[in-house]
Amino acid sequence: MAEIVLETTGLTKFFRARKAVDDLSLRVYEGDVYGFLGPNWAGKSTTIRMLTGLVRPHGGSARLMGYDVGAQRVQSLRQVGAIVELPAFYKYMSARENLEIFSRYSGGCDKKRIDEVLDAVGLLDRAKDKVKTFSHGMVQRLGIAQALLPDPKVVILDEPTSGLDPQGMRDVRELILRLSKEHGITVFLSSHLLHEVEQVCNRVGIINRGRLVAEGSVGELLHREMSIVEFGVSDIAHAAELLSGVDSLKVLETSACCVSINGPRDCVAEANRALVQSGIDVYSIVPKTMNLEDLFMKLVGDGEEDD
Ligand SMILES: Nc1ncnc2c1ncn2[C@@H]1O[C@H](COP(=O)(O)OP(=O)(O)OP(=O)(O)O)[C@@H](O)[C@H]1O
Ligand SMILES: [Mg+2]
Repeated sequence: MAEIVLETTGLTKFFRARKAVDDLSLRVYEGDVYGFLGPNWAGKSTTIRMLTGLVRPHGGSARLMGYDVGAQRVQSLRQVGAIVELPAFYKYMSARENLEIFSRYSGGCDKKRIDEVLDAVGLLDRAKDKVKTFSHGMVQRLGIAQALLPDPKVVILDEPTSGLDPQGMRDVRELILRLSKEHGITVFLSSHLLHEVEQVCNRVGIINRGRLVAEGSVGELLHREMSIVEFGVSDIAHAAELLSGVDSLKVLETSACCVSINGPRDCVAEANRALVQSGIDVYSIVPKTMNLEDLFMKLVGDGEEDD
């Protein structure tokens, strides 16, 4: 079993009476590119602030590399690089100068390391250029370079592609994959973009209203959570009525020849049995592929606050 590099247990944070993060327990293993997925206000940034020791939880704990972020802050953050807010740089200084200044805050590092991280994010040839000449995507990549300075084992990125154009998003996604594959870095990133998470992450935690509603590999989640299946049957109305009475599944729609249902995977066999036992002929059983978006909508709904 891979080592757990990031873990929260019952993590909870209130803002006045509102629970921004509610009893959140998640695990990230060494080598994961973990997508922390949720709609606006779900509690992603608040969780990341607690993970990086910027905000103290009201309950529960966070551990990084086996150290408690609250009790062993320095050790826990030693091998972690993070971008929590939008990276801020001195616009009239070059990329390299900015990294030099930043590294001095944390005890300094040699020039070679600065070149290495600039190279890792594809900015080595722009090292001498002032940050004011950079595109938004380049600033974001410089932020990631900054997070890489201490040679971390884990990087934590809060919405790393937010505000980028499609090309900028692709660049950052490729960079994240490269950090994982070539540099062996474990990545924890938050996002509200499903297809982004689907593209870069091997594991996902879905958060809604502060609560973790699902966690696992993308494939596992889709498999475990639900399937949509179309039954081609002889008597649609009878079949729909019958299946509506089966607790574990939901009839989604009926058409001229099919009834589609959704529910956990086991319910497919149960539905089939019920149909056949009632004398309804089953001509076809067609599983519909479900993507992360369907699952996300099922778990998160419209994501609107109701208070
Ligand atoms: N400093 C704060 N003071 C009061 N409420 C806050 C504060 N920070 C966050 N919240 C509230 O906590 C909840 C979670 O916010 P958070 O920023 O963690 O969500 P998020 O998932 O990062 O959202 P987004 O996708 O918009 O970045 C929201 O209801 C928000 O209004
Ligand atoms: Mg946020």
